[in-house]
Amino acid sequence: MNEGAKAEATAARILARCAELARCTETPGAICRTFLSLAMDEAHALLRRWAVEAGMTVQLDRAGNFIASTKAAEDTPRLMIGSHLDTVPDAGAYDGVLGVLLGLAIAEAQSECGLGIDVVGFSDEEGVRFGTPFIGSKSMTGRLTAELLGRRDGAGVTAREALDAFAKARPDAVSTGLPQGVRGYLEFHIEQGPVLESEGLALGVVTKIAGQSRGVLTFVGRAGHAGTTPMVQRQDALAAAAEWIGRVEEIAHGAEGLVATVGQISAEPNAVNVIAAGAKCSLDVRHAEDAVRTRALSEIVRAAEEIAARRGVRCGWSETHTEAAVPMDAAMIAMVEQAVERAGHPVRRMASGAGHDAMVLAPHVPSGMIFLRCPGGLSHHPDEAVLAGDLAAAFKVGLLFLDEFERAWSAGERRTSA
Ligand code: GLV
Ligand code: MN
Ligand code: MN
Repeated sequence: MNEGAKAEATAARILARCAELARCTETPGAICRTFLSLAMDEAHALLRRWAVEAGMTVQLDRAGNFIASTKAAEDTPRLMIGSHLDTVPDAGAYDGVLGVLLGLAIAEAQSECGLGIDVVGFSDEEGVRFGTPFIGSKSMTGRLTAELLGRRDGAGVTAREALDAFAKARPDAVSTGLPQGVRGYLEFHIEQGPVLESEGLALGVVTKIAGQSRGVLTFVGRAGHAGTTPMVQRQDALAAAAEWIGRVEEIAHGAEGLVATVGQISAEPNAVNVIAAGAKCSLDVRHAEDAVRTRALSEIVRAAEEIAARRGVRCGWSETHTEAAVPMDAAMIAMVEQAVERAGHPVRRMASGAGHDAMVLAPHVPSGMIFLRCPGGLSHHPDEAVLAGDLAAAFKVGLLFLDEFERAWSAGERRTSA
């Protein structure tokens, strides 16, 4: 089979595998796979089979990260390729999973190269179960804090309890930490936005990942009868929240590249004929420049305070997650660009608005990312898609990247900056 036909066959196999993994779900008829769930166990079983068939050894670590490794002499430099296996509720079939499956395909195809490869499927990037993202990659890089471990899921179980139960049930799970000898981390991911498609490009080279702030904004008013309480005498927490959400949108429109989202809201007591005594809203703010993000966050919180004071309700802000913007490693970017060029594609540099495990790994190991065009710019949606031709292109770029990475290391000129 010639190179092109091999890449096409690989792309078709990856798409079929994405469809198989999509059937590992907690929600019949939709894709939802959260941290340390049974659906995740099923996904691990499939991946284990594929990795073993490819001649790799497989381990789970105590945070539920899946690690498949090629065999190589002990002092051989190793490259980690991966992404996450968890999903948002009612997810698409490619966010995260695609990067893991591309990693497996690349590892399988490169049996002759002088590198070791560790393909990693992180256990939690989306943060659905404990309301905080990156538990998998944070565990691997020693960044799990007591505060994070104390978070509770919907059933009241803390993250620490969930991790302890997982480790107890799997005595063969290895201790967490970066795989030995790892010199770089490469993550393939769908772009999750419309830029590549609008420019007619298959691939993008990620230079930076936008910083994020998340938290909960609570309004506390006073319950009352919906039929008898005159409008001017109300302290309606939900109406305050509604006004504030409009302000959040306005503030986000005020700076190029700034995004702010209120994606969750709940009301108390949540009854049709009762004025809301309480409203709780999530907030997610992102920008590639940290100063822009933190300035916007202050403005958004000030807006809540001003609205609350005017309406005679109280408000409180509690930050649940913050991650500074993270640049990708310059040498990794250069090698990705070389590989993209050698594969015959234009080099399109771009920042990522979405968060990725690469942003957690980057301070610990030189990291790089490659985006694949996302039809319709759609992600976190069941209609998420990827084009087979783009997948074949990413596979070829991955193999050429290995060549660049191996040359950098075997030449003894350590081009990466760790
Ligand atoms: C992860 O999908 C994110 O919210 O950026
Ligand atoms: Mn996602
Ligand atoms: Mn993702």
